Amino acid sequence: MQFSIFDNPLKTWQGSTLLIGTFEEDINESLKKIGFILNTELISENLKKKNFKGGNGQTLFFDFLNEKINSFSLIGLGEKDKIDNDSLRNYLSDFARKIVDKERKISILLPWEYLGKDSLNVAFEAIRLSTFKDNRFNSKKDEKNKLQEVEFIIENKFSNISFKESESLCEGVEFARKLVAAPPNSLTPLDMSIKANEIGKSHDLEVKILEKNQCEELKMGAYLAVAKGSDLEPKFIHLIYKPKGPSRRKIALVGKGLTFDSGGYNLKVGASQIEMMKYDMGGSAAVLGAARALGAIKPKDIEIHFIVAACENMINGSAVHPGDVIKASNGKTIEINNTDAEGRLTLADALTYASNLKPDTIIDLATLTGACVIALGNDVAGLWSNSDNLAKELVNSGKKAGENIWQMPLQRSYKDGLKSHIADLKNTGPRPGGSITAALFLEEFFDKKINWAHIDIAGTCWTDKNKGINSSGATGFGVRTLVQWIKDI
Ligand code: BES
Ligand code: MN
Ligand code: ZN
Repeated sequence: MQFSIFDNPLKTWQGSTLLIGTFEEDINESLKKIGFILNTELISENLKKKNFKGGNGQTLFFDFLNEKINSFSLIGLGEKDKIDNDSLRNYLSDFARKIVDKERKISILLPWEYLGKDSLNVAFEAIRLSTFKDNRFNSKKDEKNKLQEVEFIIENKFSNISFKESESLCEGVEFARKLVAAPPNSLTPLDMSIKANEIGKSHDLEVKILEKNQCEELKMGAYLAVAKGSDLEPKFIHLIYKPKGPSRRKIALVGKGLTFDSGGYNLKVGASQIEMMKYDMGGSAAVLGAARALGAIKPKDIEIHFIVAACENMINGSAVHPGDVIKASNGKTIEINNTDAEGRLTLADALTYASNLKPDTIIDLATLTGACVIALGNDVAGLWSNSDNLAKELVNSGKKAGENIWQMPLQRSYKDGLKSHIADLKNTGPRPGGSITAALFLEEFFDKKINWAHIDIAGTCWTDKNKGINSSGATGFGVRTLVQWIKDI
């Protein structure tokens, strides 16, 4: 999809499909603007008939043709002082999904001056991400996808408009979505390491892929306990971005990378959605998507490590037993009282590895608990942090980027729930507060001096329905927050 800017006087515009966005209070003015090409009286009458008042996201399509234009649409942007980037994203996404199969080119005139220059990037991202289609697994490719060109009519309002960073961001999100959507027989730990290597090579990142024996040398007993029930080899992925000059910050981003989670001997049964557990690598997809975006954007003075302990949670004769005691790479022993709480075991060794790199901040993303989905649903991710400041930064960057994150308590009194009679701790606490004990478990595996945040994306990495910029399927949740946060710090 091509995006372009038309910045000549409006009256000189020529094209076939035009979208105008208007605030409630500005409908007449908006219509006047297009008098040079359309009969505004006729349209005005139509608006009255259809009861179009310019309310939130209300859309009207006009298909009558004249010699100057083929079709014309109106979107209501609601009241001027209520508009924000979230609503703009939603209006444009819903509109784009409606026309993506119908129009080859669309030209868009919004009150850009009022909305601000950044809104052009918001619009770019919304249109591109809401119309993203993935037909890799269909034999017949969907040829309907007609929309190829989007033109923003800006009437000389801004200079130096660039979509370069938006484009890199969208590529990162789309990359993450494709990783998440790929079924478990198509995206194995090996495939994930190959993809990571490709990103590294094409974006000048250093790539380290640790094989099983190297993980054994590092005594990653928790990660390897999960991996050993699978016939597929685990792959520990580490990409490094180093800026040209000196670094002001050193960040580690860690993602849960279970390419499939059967639950292990605590097999997922009943309504536990075992058939959806390809998306249990949503955290690693966000981290690798961010690597792809940031590898292109190249932040000036921040060193970033991208870390994924990729494996499958499966069952075979050498799989971990419920009740086994294992030792993580930081020396702590863990009683595995539930093999389905496997994500935190892989993260234990990934966090220890990250901690040993001595970063100032570690952020992990994981589809960690069903409890988080129960608490916050599918539109909000949960966040736990040992630094309120970091928590606030991430919530704010998420808000800017259009991802909802809610800070949850690291309720230390619940740590009792992880006490084991035989080992230093067990991997599963009681059901109440299950996503909190999961976060408390993770906190045992890095240097406490490091600022850390954990984002549970179990509810947000997938959507069953079209919603805002996300079409049904994988959302790529996390990429936009991570990239925004790196730009903000
Ligand atoms: N991958 C799941 C969490 C999950 C559940 C993600 C539903 C997305 C949707 C995780 O490995 C898991 O199984 N967690 C268990 C933990 C429990 C055994 C303490 C859970 O949430 O049920
Ligand atoms: Mn599990
Ligand atoms: Zn899992």
